[in-house]
Amino acid sequence: MSEEQKSWDSSQLRNYDIELEQIPRYHFQDPKVDERISKNQPVLITGSKLVKSAEEKWNLDYLGKHLGKSTYTVFLSKNHNFKYFDEKKIYSKSNPKGIEFKPPTQRLEMNIHEFMKKLKDWKKGDDRLYLQQTLNSTVGPSIVEDYLKFDWHFVADKKNKHMWGELTSNVLFISMEGNVTPCHYDEQQNLFAQILGYKRCILFPPDQFECLYPHPVYHPHDRQSMVNFDNPNFTKHPKFKNIKGCETVVGPGDVLYIPIYWWHHIESLLHGGPTITVNFWYKGGPTNLQYPLQDHQKVSIMRNVEKMLLEVLQDPQEIGPLLRAMVLGRYTDP
Ligand code: SIN
Ligand code: FE
Repeated sequence: MSEEQKSWDSSQLRNYDIELEQIPRYHFQDPKVDERISKNQPVLITGSKLVKSAEEKWNLDYLGKHLGKSTYTVFLSKNHNFKYFDEKKIYSKSNPKGIEFKPPTQRLEMNIHEFMKKLKDWKKGDDRLYLQQTLNSTVGPSIVEDYLKFDWHFVADKKNKHMWGELTSNVLFISMEGNVTPCHYDEQQNLFAQILGYKRCILFPPDQFECLYPHPVYHPHDRQSMVNFDNPNFTKHPKFKNIKGCETVVGPGDVLYIPIYWWHHIESLLHGGPTITVNFWYKGGPTNLQYPLQDHQKVSIMRNVEKMLLEVLQDPQEIGPLLRAMVLGRYTDP
């Protein structure tokens, strides 16, 4: 899209004091797309017809009519942030009583009419809503038809060329304007296909781990950054000052490749109306331990070490002291 056609402006972006470059945009036939994907580098892919069948039709009315009778997962939040948490980790072996964790959002199941009505009736001060549901076989026949018309050759080609594992899910996101999915990483390859409205996506490479302070793996907020981008606490998270990332705004027809283990913060633009996205999540390919290791492989190793220590020590409180005793003065600079 040329600058003249741009359908949003910078006043619709939230303000963060972060150094950000632009993620490159390439037409889907440009060989640079695969060059970047092969190096696990994000790229915004334009001109593909991946979800064209949905772009032509999917809006709130159409989805309300055709999604079907099943219930959908909707998160409610008192503010614009929808920080993900893993319910299974609230009551886990390392946290048997589920203490000291207040879920930041409420998860509800509702039928699509209830959701659409709540969206329509929404007033300032009400809880915000965000529908996040894996597409499954309960959707109505029109949605199935649109889904079958997705460009499956396009995604199969990416999967095969880059040796990704199987497609695990397609998640449908229906967001209110201004909603934010705070910074986190996923353990899957992601083709993020925008259908309606505009989302700003801020990405950071896996080597920014130390600047982003992920919650410990046993914590319900595993994989989420502890840093509050709206009001960073530089005393607790001093290295966040050095963070460097990249960003883009995706609109209808755009597909963003979010590489496995890359951090991402995603915001539906302010005053831009609701947004609709479908993502394609693929398992990572076979692990190929070639040296030097890639940064995301090191993150995976750290996760495994953390999990193993939790398993044997049985108490998260013991992990810090043990690692400090092992490392300080032995593996640190003098
Ligand atoms: C979002 O679109 O809000 C989140 C998508 C993701 O984290 O993969
Ligand atoms: Fe994600």
